[in-house]
Amino acid sequence: MEHRRSEQAFRAAQKVMPGGVSSPVRAFGSVGGTPVFMKAGYGAEVTDVDGNRYIDMLSSWGPLILGHAEPKVMRAMYAGFGGTSFGAPTPNETRLAKMLVEALPSVEMVRFVSSGTEATMSALRLARAATGRDKIVKFAGCYHGHVDALLVQAGSGVATLGLPDSPGVTKGTSGDTIVVPYNSIDGVKEAFAAEGDKIAAVIVEPVAANMGVVPPASGFLEELRTITEQNGALLIFDEVVTGFRVGYSGAQGMFDIDPDLTILGKVIGGGLPIGAYGGRKDLMSQIAPSGPVYQAGTLAGNPMSVAAGIGTIRGIQRFASAPGGADDPAGLYAHLDRLTGHLVEGLQERGKRAGIPLTFQRIGSMFTLFFKDGPVGNLQEAKESDTQRFGRFFHAMLNEGVYWPPSQFEAVFLSAAHSAQHVDDVVAAAGRALERIG
Ligand SMILES: Cc1ncc(COP(=O)(O)O)c(C=O)c1O
Repeated sequence: MEHRRSEQAFRAAQKVMPGGVSSPVRAFGSVGGTPVFMKAGYGAEVTDVDGNRYIDMLSSWGPLILGHAEPKVMRAMYAGFGGTSFGAPTPNETRLAKMLVEALPSVEMVRFVSSGTEATMSALRLARAATGRDKIVKFAGCYHGHVDALLVQAGSGVATLGLPDSPGVTKGTSGDTIVVPYNSIDGVKEAFAAEGDKIAAVIVEPVAANMGVVPPASGFLEELRTITEQNGALLIFDEVVTGFRVGYSGAQGMFDIDPDLTILGKVIGGGLPIGAYGGRKDLMSQIAPSGPVYQAGTLAGNPMSVAAGIGTIRGIQRFASAPGGADDPAGLYAHLDRLTGHLVEGLQERGKRAGIPLTFQRIGSMFTLFFKDGPVGNLQEAKESDTQRFGRFFHAMLNEGVYWPPSQFEAVFLSAAHSAQHVDDVVAAAGRALERIG
């Protein structure tokens, strides 16, 4: 497969952009080689600048649940706005807000921002203001955007005070963050025993997707709800990935738990820049201008982003070919669950044939293929994966015309545009790739 134009594009980009990219993982740092520069996407397929076509398993890191350039989303985007930005309210913001409020059980009001990072940052500010406390509990391996206070790494095993994970993050900022291993209720209890009256919130990916897919252990989320309630702290679900992805009412619907605040992004913008945070009215009313907690944005609630979000959610609602009928929002999710299930079964079988130890972790249409034996419940276990072998797999798949996420610690996302034929093609490609990498 020829990548001459991508190589040229990468050389040019590196001269004027750090690492040649706008977001680090795009640079193929953990798999090596030259990133593929994209030109176009339609349905489940993307084309690079050299004209190579790939089945896309990334879906732009999750947002494109209906696939690339889905006609209804494109139409909504072009029809739904009369300009790129007004700096004034538009009715579509209210329409999208209503859709979110109706879909997500715990959300009574939302505020739109421009990215998931911004939504996290704003939700933490609100949590601190509402509780009058400073500390935040986060879980190792959960990513909530590049928010200073959350760019901290895990200590070993037990709850530890966070140390900055990046130069430029002050110890003062990260010092208010307590890092606990994912799925460790003991760690959370320890944190509350030590600092309970200072903890404003526990923030969690209800299904972790940034150390590869790691589902919550049975009872984990329920315990978080109980402990936070008992201690007067807020529970924040970061549903940037899981919102409208694992189900129409997100992970909170799937696990039947009401967090105090919810962070959203990705699917709700249909591939355009967006973020949102929402929750109970009494909390959200504390945001300016109805309350004293300041938060603002020149492009917040951008007309194109909210129109694409409305188009996407309508597309989810109307997905016609799914069981459950045209208007059953569960229809799309049942379909994607089945399709992704077939894919994972096929991959498992090919992995066995090649004699390579693999672990698959999947919720609905998102999954990670870990190059290791045995389940992954936290970051430490995820790190036991054979990342060298993953890198070889990634490149072998690329050569086969399958664009897999370029890191072991990311998730594959399927979309409504993936067909049974795509699934068969990916399984066949993976079979050849696994035999080749040994
Ligand atoms: C769970 C989660 N939260 C927050 C973010 C940050 O969102 P954004 O990249 O839009 O800032 C991400 C990004 O991947 C994410 O996966």
